[in-house]
Amino acid sequence: MENTKVTVIPNGPLMVEGTISVTKADGANEVKEQKSFLCRCGHSTNKPYCDGAHKKNNFVG
Ligand code: FES
Repeated sequence: MENTKVTVIPNGPLMVEGTISVTKADGANEVKEQKSFLCRCGHSTNKPYCDGAHKKNNFVG
């Protein structure tokens, strides 16, 4: 994937800008374009994506 940029959001998810192919835990695959936010805290109910749960769980990292 060309021109893909990953930024660590302090105390939050990874922000991925660009087109990526995501293979989920169940093996399903999807292509995400533009911006994606990937959970780093482990509390999201929509893994691998961030659902904002890091805030109420006071994730630090
Ligand atoms: S980083 Fe946002 S829910 Fe985990």
